[in-house]
Amino acid sequence: MFAIHAVPFRLFFEASLANIMMRSHYCGQVDESLIGEEISVCGWVHRRRDHGGVIFIDLRDREGLLQVVFDPDRPDIFADAERTRGEYVLAVKGLVRQRPEGTINPNMKTGQVEVLAHELDILNRSETPPFHHDENANEELRLQYRYLDLRREEMLGNLRLRHQVTMAMRSYLDNNGFIDVETPMLTRATPEGARDYIVPSRTHAGKFFALPQSPQIFKQLLMMSGLDRYYQIVRCFRDEDLRADRQPEFTQLDVEMSFVDEEDVIGAMEKLVRHIYKQVLDVELPSPFPRMSYADAMHDYGTDKPDLRIDLKLVEVADLMDAVEFKVFAGPASDPEGRVAALCLPGGNDLTRKEIDDYTAYVARYGAKGLAYIKVNDSDAGRDGLQSPILKFLPDDAVTGILERTGAKSGDLIFFGADKTRVVNDALGALRVRMGRDRGLITEGWSPLWVVDFPMFEKDAETKRWNALHHPFTAPSVDDADALVSDPGTALSRAYDLVINGSEIGGGSIRIHDRTMQSAVFDLLEISKEEAEEKFGFLLRALQYGCPPHGGIAFGLDRIVMLMAGADSIRDVIAFPKTQTASCPLTNAPGEISAAQLKETGIRLRTPRTE
Ligand code: AMO
Ligand code: AMP
Repeated sequence: MFAIHAVPFRLFFEASLANIMMRSHYCGQVDESLIGEEISVCGWVHRRRDHGGVIFIDLRDREGLLQVVFDPDRPDIFADAERTRGEYVLAVKGLVRQRPEGTINPNMKTGQVEVLAHELDILNRSETPPFHHDENANEELRLQYRYLDLRREEMLGNLRLRHQVTMAMRSYLDNNGFIDVETPMLTRATPEGARDYIVPSRTHAGKFFALPQSPQIFKQLLMMSGLDRYYQIVRCFRDEDLRADRQPEFTQLDVEMSFVDEEDVIGAMEKLVRHIYKQVLDVELPSPFPRMSYADAMHDYGTDKPDLRIDLKLVEVADLMDAVEFKVFAGPASDPEGRVAALCLPGGNDLTRKEIDDYTAYVARYGAKGLAYIKVNDSDAGRDGLQSPILKFLPDDAVTGILERTGAKSGDLIFFGADKTRVVNDALGALRVRMGRDRGLITEGWSPLWVVDFPMFEKDAETKRWNALHHPFTAPSVDDADALVSDPGTALSRAYDLVINGSEIGGGSIRIHDRTMQSAVFDLLEISKEEAEEKFGFLLRALQYGCPPHGGIAFGLDRIVMLMAGADSIRDVIAFPKTQTASCPLTNAPGEISAAQLKETGIRLRTPRTE
């Protein structure tokens, strides 16, 4: 994991507090340069120690800790110091002095000095907090008392990092002619593939606003207005299944540009991302970022967001398996929608039965019905050098082919997936990352990647209808609507995703700016004329009034900050996030509304309210 605290933060705050009445300095900024000076500081009691008549308090503010000493020869304030407890809020005046030999703390920013207190004001008391600041309490409790959780250095650090990232974004975009425009929060549905959060209207009882899943349509309208270069750091709302990298409300850096093609957008956005990494972490990202087609990503990594820091690839073996006795392999090998793939784990021969069973259970989450394997004891000894429950089903040429293609060496282990292509990709793609983590195969550093040449549509397995892989405003790579309609299955889109270290941090596309093409896409998606008119009539109309060619992208701010902070979840970089079930333990949202509010908005609940 990248440890953010090892990275020197650019100090963005240097102003003196001397003109502020209650304090002259932040605790964490008191150092040797102030020795001999009288200062005043404010903060929270981080820790209090009584040392045979002397009281030491580590006073904490957002800049760090400062050791304050209370001497018994000042009995008035000494008695007050004795009354303090953890998290009491204090104002202290005193003299900065060098710490005595042997008490210097090199691990503390202020570890060379201490303050001998002359005055003490207890500004407020505190109950004993439900968890201690440096303890890893359970997340529900942390969220319930989020204001206490945010007192922790790590959490404060994450919020500051986030601030620095947005500052770097704004400065780059401002310097490059982008204009920040706000778009409505109370709006209509935007099709980004999730459910909407809806808000009832009082003035139009029975009607509802949707909170935006993204500002997609508005930013396109702004291009039609001639804004030319737009950006916004904007909250988006999506009611979808939550994961570590998904929140119901999250923040995008949303960008749109006119008179551009994909090279222009990709070029400008690469510069932006490099600028952010340089400004905030002092890291130079590669230039240019590598690119990979969607087809190659799925083929080699089983996912459209490959983590290239893990040097393992899926290998196709279907053609070796279509005639084998083993039905589990032969079936998918001869099914056009099936896939049989191998994944070689270098040195994996030492996996125990139990570990293999655990991995089998892990891939089952992705729908895999099993996880066949071959242990390679001696790669030069042919079949005799191999060990596997499925070996007996495989003819010699299949075995030779597997060894050749995977490049397996003595001591390796080869896993197999055989099923519908989607299942094999999901299962082996996830296994690849899991093994990368478990076996320390992830190299240090940053690995950005553009994924391009996405299919325009994918077929829904159940409804058999086409879905847009990005959103329905994404332009196809063919210019002609008839060509698109005649073969939607093979059409590629002009979309691009930015992946960093296996996390999808941004996605965008060149848009459709032609009304005929937009209508053709709505038709393909089986959005009826009436529905298209009702939902997107305003956009279709706008396309008729001089719409420039345009395109853009949106980045997931929370995800970028999560990666940079080395955090495991975006919840750790959001001040007040929701739980996995989309609720807020701090405010108890969502909550019920009063009978009067229901009446005003014309709503009658189908289930009685719980008391
Ligand atoms: P997309 O839906 O790919 O594109 O979203 C852009 C980026 O937003 C982040 N993201 C999320 N982050 C946290 N929680 C979520 N629930 C969540 N959903 C998405 C991801 C993703 O890459 N309008 C288009 C952009 C465009 O075409 O310009 C859009 O919203 O990092
Ligand atoms: P079985 O014949 O069901 O005992 O399976 C033999 C081996 O093949 C076991 O190691 C299973 O885990 C594995 N296996 C079963 N189904 C699949 C599948 N769809 N893909 C990969 N391996 C499988």
